[in-house]
Amino acid sequence: MQFILLIVCIVAFVDCKMKVLRPPDLVDHLGSKVNIALANFGQIPFGHRLMGYVDMAQPNDGCSPLQSATGSQFIMIERGNCTFVTKVRNAQNAGYSLAIIGNNNDEPLQSDFVMADDGQGYSVNIPSIFISLRDFNIMKEYASNYKVLDNSDDKIFILVKFDVEKKDQIDVIFSLDVNDRDSYRVVDEYSQYYNLLQNENINYTLVYQIFNSNNTELDYIIDEDNCICSRRYCSIDPDGEGIASGRNVVEEAIRQTCIFKLFPDKYFQYMNQFNFQCTKAQAYSTCGSKIITNLQLSANEITKCRDESFKDPLNDQTTKNLSNAYNAILEHQLIVREQAGMVGLPSVVVNSIVYKGQLTGKGVFGEICNSFIIPPLVCKSEVENFYQFEHQSQHYLFLVILLVSILIAIFIIVLFFLFKKFVQRDSVEVTQVQVNEMVSQYIKFYEGKDQQKQNSF
Ligand SMILES: *[C@@H]1O[C@H](CO)[C@@H](O)[C@H](O)[C@H]1NC(C)=O
Ligand SMILES: *[C@@H]1O[C@H](CO)[C@@H](O)[C@H](O)[C@H]1NC(C)=O
Ligand SMILES: *[C@@H]1O[C@H](CO)[C@@H](O)[C@H](O)[C@H]1NC(C)=O
Ligand SMILES: *[C@@H]1O[C@H](CO)[C@@H](O)[C@H](O)[C@H]1NC(C)=O
Repeated sequence: MQFILLIVCIVAFVDCKMKVLRPPDLVDHLGSKVNIALANFGQIPFGHRLMGYVDMAQPNDGCSPLQSATGSQFIMIERGNCTFVTKVRNAQNAGYSLAIIGNNNDEPLQSDFVMADDGQGYSVNIPSIFISLRDFNIMKEYASNYKVLDNSDDKIFILVKFDVEKKDQIDVIFSLDVNDRDSYRVVDEYSQYYNLLQNENINYTLVYQIFNSNNTELDYIIDEDNCICSRRYCSIDPDGEGIASGRNVVEEAIRQTCIFKLFPDKYFQYMNQFNFQCTKAQAYSTCGSKIITNLQLSANEITKCRDESFKDPLNDQTTKNLSNAYNAILEHQLIVREQAGMVGLPSVVVNSIVYKGQLTGKGVFGEICNSFIIPPLVCKSEVENFYQFEHQSQHYLFLVILLVSILIAIFIIVLFFLFKKFVQRDSVEVTQVQVNEMVSQYIKFYEGKDQQKQNSF
């Protein structure tokens, strides 16, 4: 029965996020699917489904340690009185594998709502989801009744699906900041997966944290020194009163983008060394140049990439007069970031879906793997029911075998008819020879008879 419901969910509600599978009267009450929002902490199993029994937290706000999970995998907790992270951590410590946080006001669930990290989110591994007050109250009312019921069939049983958008080509956007150590950590963690996925159809875009001071309310404190191109591209002064300026940061963003464009394999090594060796923004230029030499990258090509990215807005031709120029690389990044609507820094967007949860290289790899329509073999460990896809290729193999068998069968039939025809002609020849022989014998016989006659007379 569970299985059938699952199939129904997948076939009929491809976009379903959370679905109550049991008990039937609650399913009727709640409707076929429940909208959910996610958190930007915890490890979200993108592309996977979780199923389990649901308990109600005691106390309801989940702000103090919770009862241990016995037989249930998920727990419902009410919003308020403490941070989301505290609630989910308490659920994790009690042995639950998913926390369902219910809103405490009846505002509709916004599609861009995210349960925010309070800074302690790294201590949480389990995923969590957020549901509306209406849905929460219906489930809560049911759950508070089954304190007396031991039979797990009477418990709420739900399915949660962490959907990703599946495509043949995966678009991956990394949002990074030259001055942010966590950005380097994510890049470093991802490098091994970049190598694993090197032969796949993935379109990477790097977007560095740069802002256009014309578009921000902060523009009165942005010193020209922190910008290039007449304040078109700025970065926050990395050391306040010190000699470094935002301009150093903006220039380094262009250089790192160029290195990724020209030498993507070496980009990860460059980033790793830059993180450890280049700590002062005023020395980014010389320090980065040393790494470029060490890695035997062509400094000329990188400089050319930078110089050619400055264009005259009037004719889109490369220009050396930066006071009036725009920068094609940074302009593109500003547009991509605007479209992607990224939250937090660093962050990653895979097929237009912002990665939520704790950002790790492996997590990004998992999300990418699950975004392929047919995931490559290297994704085996990340994709649920990977054998399905293997079977799909076996399916093709079966078709090929079938086709070859049919061709062989046709060949054999043709051969058979040819053979038959050949055998027929052969036997016709044989009978003709026999007939000829008989005729000649007959003639001989009569001739002999004639002779006999002659002799007798
Ligand atoms: C929040 O705390 C107050 C005061 O301790 C308490 O009365 C209330 O029930 C708590 N809220 C929830 C949802 O438990
Ligand atoms: C790659 O992704 C970027 C950003 O989403 C986009 O601007 C670009 O057109 C994509 N390139 C290809 C070849 O699809
Ligand atoms: C920013 O402001 C300057 C001066 O007003 C202007 O020349 C420039 O075109 C603006 N840049 C952008 C990207 O709007
Ligand atoms: C650079 O462009 C600005 C604005 O168009 C102009 O005023 C200035 O004279 C130019 N500088 C040079 C060296 O051409």
